Amino acid sequence: MAKQLIARVADLAEGITVKFEYVQDGVPREGFLARIGDQIVAYENVCRHLPLTLDFGDNHIFTRDRKYFACQSHGAVYDPLTGLCLHGPCAGASLKPLRVASRGDELWLEVVDTVG
Ligand code: FES
Repeated sequence: MAKQLIARVADLAEGITVKFEYVQDGVPREGFLARIGDQIVAYENVCRHLPLTLDFGDNHIFTRDRKYFACQSHGAVYDPLTGLCLHGPCAGASLKPLRVASRGDELWLEVVDTVG
């Protein structure tokens, strides 16, 4: 299992997302973190409708009211706590969750390769 420091809790204000890059199965990928109440969530930044990032590279992932994540391409709306798509072309599918461990103020991504 690979571990990677991706952010500090102090950087993660509620209502913002923090993006990071990582490698899994030899493939460069992008993920994002968010704080929802007292929980920290992380997902791969890939919509479940088509393999596109939720944002257009501008870190615009939360809806305007900061209650949901939304894909900017075709409007899929995701529950930020579960990653479940609630509305849109991929309703019922879920974002791929990523495992994050906190050590003090540090947030560490834990990546396990699935092939090889
Ligand atoms: S690519 Fe996200 S809703 Fe179509």
